[in-house]
Amino acid sequence: MAAATPSRPVDLEFARRLPKIELHAHLTGSISRECLHDMWATRPVQHAALDLEDPLRALPAGKVDYDINTFFPLFSSYIYKLCSNLPSIQHSTKAVLQDFQADGVVYLELRTTPRAMPAAALTKDDYVRTVLDTINTHNNDGLNTLRAFLILSIDRRNTIAEAEEVVDLAIKYQTSGVVAVDLCGDPAKGDVRIFAPAFARAKAAGLKITLHFAEIELSGTDAELSTLLSWNPDRLGHVIHVKEEYRKRIEKHNIGVELCLSCNVHAKMITGTYSDHHFGMWRHSSVPVILCTDDVGVFCSPLSQEYYLAAQHFALSRSDVRELCERVVDSIFTGPEEKARLRRLYADWDGSESLL
Ligand code: IMP
Ligand code: ZN
Repeated sequence: MAAATPSRPVDLEFARRLPKIELHAHLTGSISRECLHDMWATRPVQHAALDLEDPLRALPAGKVDYDINTFFPLFSSYIYKLCSNLPSIQHSTKAVLQDFQADGVVYLELRTTPRAMPAAALTKDDYVRTVLDTINTHNNDGLNTLRAFLILSIDRRNTIAEAEEVVDLAIKYQTSGVVAVDLCGDPAKGDVRIFAPAFARAKAAGLKITLHFAEIELSGTDAELSTLLSWNPDRLGHVIHVKEEYRKRIEKHNIGVELCLSCNVHAKMITGTYSDHHFGMWRHSSVPVILCTDDVGVFCSPLSQEYYLAAQHFALSRSDVRELCERVVDSIFTGPEEKARLRRLYADWDGSESLL
């Protein structure tokens, strides 16, 4: 039960062994390039006719400099074409769960935007059910150390009717592992005000709410931030372009902030580098701070590396990092059972053993 030796610096091995909680990861953005390649290599003949480039060439190893202009089209014009039938959804979801588990993640709230695939005769409902079935099969295997839950995303480009459909699905599958509704998508697009009734209905049904918040200057206006905060979100993602007034409101309501170091640095969403990241400011605030990967398949920095980078750039000791991780338990969207499991797990972890 001894705490980790505080004098030894955090290294990648320690960060990997550390039991971690991931709360902001997009399913399709978390698919590794190797997994995309497998799906490409085994794609059915009708997909081969699409003449899609090999993912290992389309997303070259080491390329992580996707910015706000190149990132979103990567999904619509490429990755979604590879994830376009039942086997590819099952295969990629399973691989994403395994990848997080292999990195020492013990609890995951994965998010995804319901997507219909007419060519494969799949509805949005079929998509959500397939992802949930894969998650629940994983959770029911006693050998797995990671437990996963699902958040359904409304894309900022959605119509009101599409947003309501996401909420319908979230309510329908609430007892099968859906815990919340998210607002995501290109922050330069859409008018968030139209989604107020959809988020109000989700909240009234007992679902939690998490929102991509102030990712770019354009989505950090007073009008947008006031609107988003008026929905009483339970957590906020990114939280970059926020004035003092909004920081204070976030603190007053003790809203957890999901921060994504490598994504923000590589996509140039912040000025400067890791040491300039607003994690440095939020970690001294009173709100829960949650380090997250966002899109590990694109930015190639697993959660262990995010904790390692935070330790490197903000001079965190092993006990600081462990404490940071452990405090995330309070921000998860599931109930007392998972919180108790995670608290027990941290209490039993002596810092030397991997749980795998
Ligand atoms: P999916 O929802 O599982 O299909 O994951 C990919 C989708 O997540 C993308 O098409 C985007 O809409 C959304 N996404 C991923 N990363 C970000 C982000 O940093 N900001 C906003 N939306 C994002
Ligand atoms: Zn995100």
